[in-house]
Amino acid sequence: MRGLPFYLLSILCLASSQKVPRLKLNLQDAQRFNFGERERPAAMFHEPGSNQVLVGGRGKLLLLTFTDSEVTPKEVPLKADEKAEKDCKSKARALWDCDNFIQVIEKLDNKMMVCGTNAASPKCWFLVNATTFQTDKQGRNITASGENISAASPSQNAVVITVEDTLYSALSGEKSSIQRSYGKKKGLKTENSWLPRAEFVGAALLAEKDQSKDEIFFFYNEVNQSAGLDEEPYKAGLGRVCKVDQGGRPVMTDSWSTFLKARLVCGHPTEPMRFHRLQDAFVSKKEGGKGETVLYGVFSSAWGSSAVCSYSMNRISTVFKTSKFKGVTGPIPVPRPGMCVQPDGHPPLPKSTLTFIKDHPEIDSVIYPDEEHPLYILQNNDTYTQVVVDSVQDAAGISRDVLFLGTAKGKIHKVLRSKDQTVIVAELSPFKKEAPVSSMILDDDSGHLYASTEFEVVRLQLADCDQYKENCWKCILARDPYCGWDGEQKTCSAVSQDTNSTGSLLQNLDSSSTASMCENAEEKLAQEALKKVSVDPTGYIYLPCPLRSHHAIYTWVKDDKTYPCSMDEQSCTLRFGESTPMDQGVFKCTSREEGYQEEITAFKVTLNSGRIPEVSVAVMAMGILFLTITILLL
Ligand SMILES: *[C@@H]1O[C@H](CO)[C@@H](O)[C@H](O)[C@H]1NC(C)=O
Ligand SMILES: *[C@@H]1O[C@H](CO)[C@@H](O)[C@H](O)[C@H]1NC(C)=O
Ligand SMILES: *[C@@H]1O[C@H](CO)[C@@H](O)[C@H](O)[C@H]1NC(C)=O
Ligand SMILES: *[C@@H]1O[C@H](CO)[C@@H](O)[C@H](O)[C@H]1NC(C)=O
Ligand SMILES: *[C@@H]1O[C@H](CO)[C@@H](O)[C@H](O)[C@H]1NC(C)=O
Ligand SMILES: *[C@@H]1O[C@H](CO)[C@@H](O)[C@H](O)[C@H]1NC(C)=O
Repeated sequence: MRGLPFYLLSILCLASSQKVPRLKLNLQDAQRFNFGERERPAAMFHEPGSNQVLVGGRGKLLLLTFTDSEVTPKEVPLKADEKAEKDCKSKARALWDCDNFIQVIEKLDNKMMVCGTNAASPKCWFLVNATTFQTDKQGRNITASGENISAASPSQNAVVITVEDTLYSALSGEKSSIQRSYGKKKGLKTENSWLPRAEFVGAALLAEKDQSKDEIFFFYNEVNQSAGLDEEPYKAGLGRVCKVDQGGRPVMTDSWSTFLKARLVCGHPTEPMRFHRLQDAFVSKKEGGKGETVLYGVFSSAWGSSAVCSYSMNRISTVFKTSKFKGVTGPIPVPRPGMCVQPDGHPPLPKSTLTFIKDHPEIDSVIYPDEEHPLYILQNNDTYTQVVVDSVQDAAGISRDVLFLGTAKGKIHKVLRSKDQTVIVAELSPFKKEAPVSSMILDDDSGHLYASTEFEVVRLQLADCDQYKENCWKCILARDPYCGWDGEQKTCSAVSQDTNSTGSLLQNLDSSSTASMCENAEEKLAQEALKKVSVDPTGYIYLPCPLRSHHAIYTWVKDDKTYPCSMDEQSCTLRFGESTPMDQGVFKCTSREEGYQEEITAFKVTLNSGRIPEVSVAVMAMGILFLTITILLL
């Protein structure tokens, strides 16, 4: 079952759903802040529309203000209590643990609530604005215990979500739990047996038209520490509770009375290749009932590859309402366990329902992805660590899901999900140092994406249309729903997100028949000048043809004869050698992609007949050592 041949077989079967990014964009001029030292930014907060982010660091909060020209930091020290630090050190913990690692930054009741590990004795502070602590009449800081909100050790992360000024939190590890931990509503928790050794990765509110039906979801992995080396230790799952839950009196007064959980699988029900470890999850909401609410999850596998799966939230809700319960053969009590019922005006849940939930919170059905397979499998040596999703209006006013996926090597993939296909529009490289993307926040209002690693924070433009501005083809082939070709201005422009705008921009996001779209649009092909090269007849040269679109086909041609090229990450290089004898003439490299053809580069090669070379250089380019050639600048 777990033998390698099976995996290989399924990898081959799924080969068609593997993806590579179309463009690779090095964003050297991204707005960037460098921590200067290794931070562990475990929390990041951003108010939509503002130009600031609050980053939780080690013993401090950092307020970063982004402008077009610079990023200004302001530091708010937030040390661990002296007593907590002393106690911590006396218990001979590692010194590293005895600092205050900020894990939670949330806005509640118009204040900022900031919680940290506080030397293994978690604690929360309140700030009236980003830099000023809230104090009582005596001028002392107002604080609260953070024991059910922040982890005690920086090696564990906290997952929190604020709904209606109430904080819901999930703690990972030995005593994992989901709690209603702060606010005016009754505090509640999961029973110890419900979530053994869970590691939480995210949370989301699923808002319903009838607000009393609102659900709060938590996403996690259950970790089996006794799993053998050849066994999968991770099992992804989701747990949900109802916002209106007031506890399971009298069976379990302080526990959720509506908690249910289910297994989440990224893979096909009958194929062995599965991605077991959930890295991050995001629920993409559509405003005004436009389209479905979708859960996106990024997963990794034991052999280091990564996949993206999508799950319709409607479907998940239906499964929770209709599935059998795990380990139950008898009848299911009425009302059905887990339903969101308003406590006021309803009789309390009968004991039978509560006892049932206490013993059987897991549903029997496993939740498989939409279409029963991953959206795609990442085809390179990198894994996804983060996902956020924007619902963007395209040029025709249709809402599209665009995924931003952070990777373990500090890349960000911008991905368009269409009905029948998924396109990795671009791989962005905004960071200076290679490190896993640890957090991402989308801001629709200002059109920015904030992303961080342990070294840096960057801010990117969601609509970065200058990347494809050269001509109509480049703009349209990009398949970037944020951008369309403006035939009048002859440029690639951002699509207006104003609901009433009647855009006249050209776009072609779905079909691959781009052929006629740009005909009337005037082209300005940026052709490089013909490069002239002279070679000694006994020597060889390598001619590089730089790749731009990784979805295009590249060919070298001389007088209608095609020459093979050797491909690497950056170039389709024509290498003369034993199999391709040195020749003279004009060699052209062209790229073709969906009906669009472009001449990328051209060399006029002449075989030198004993002339004295004018310039002799050894060219190192694109990792290929060019033989010493003579370039005659004619
Ligand atoms: C409040 O807490 C902060 C962070 O620990 C500290 O810098 C500040 O001095 C405290 N203020 C008062 C009045 O205790
Ligand atoms: C924060 O609040 C304090 C006290 O209300 C005020 O003095 C200060 O100017 C505020 N700072 C900012 C950046 O708004
Ligand atoms: C934390 O949760 C436990 C269990 O629910 C509870 O007994 C305790 O009072 C909570 N602590 C705080 C500070 O709310
Ligand atoms: C964990 O793995 C061990 C070893 O395979 C297995 O016996 C045990 O049932 C697993 N536990 C769970 C909760 O799956
Ligand atoms: C993949 O990346 C890892 C770490 O970056 C490296 O050790 C490994 O050799 C790479 N494997 C391949 C096939 O490139
Ligand atoms: C859009 O158009 C509708 C109907 O014409 C109008 O009621 C609404 O105010 C407009 N919205 C904006 C943002 O202009």
